[in-house]
Amino acid sequence: MKTTLIASLFALTLSLMGFSHAAEQAHKIPDAPPEYLAKTNPLADTTDEALLKRANRLFRGKCVKCHGEEGDGKGPRAESLIIKPAAFGSPGYLNGRKDGQLFWIISFGSPGTDMPAHGPGTDINLSEEEIWSIITYLRRNLTR
Ligand code: HEC
Repeated sequence: MKTTLIASLFALTLSLMGFSHAAEQAHKIPDAPPEYLAKTNPLADTTDEALLKRANRLFRGKCVKCHGEEGDGKGPRAESLIIKPAAFGSPGYLNGRKDGQLFWIISFGSPGTDMPAHGPGTDINLSEEEIWSIITYLRRNLTR
């Protein structure tokens, strides 16, 4: 009992000092509800260069810090996260995900993890079009 208390105080002190070695935890990634899984990307075939450029900028500005440039899940912020960013650039990952799943999690986040909600009305407040354009960007550039 006493030992447990001392051990947790010790762990607390270490973590306050920035020496937290909390073990990495498994992904949560809930499945999107069926009405989202049924959605398809209206911008999948877009040739709008300005939109694609903006999607690239949004990806760099909002996603790379956690997910990494190549989608390997190793952006600069990833190290401090207990539940790691999804490595959606890894082989087969994006092909194994429906547009609606990606749209849902980018819009609403993954509760209990650091994956933020980006949709309309959130702090980040991307429009639905911006989110679909990011999905187009991911599919065209990070599908392996
Ligand atoms: C602060 C860090 C952080 C930022 C910023 C972030 N993510 Fe994530 N993301 C995560 C984490 C952590 C997970 C894993 C969540 C889980 O395990 O439930 C995740 C999961 C995901 C997934 C997996 C969904 C699935 O069904 O497999 C996708 C796709 C994704 N993020 C896309 C994005 C995009 C696109 C952006 C930028 C618009 C972004 N994320 C910004 C941390 C982040």
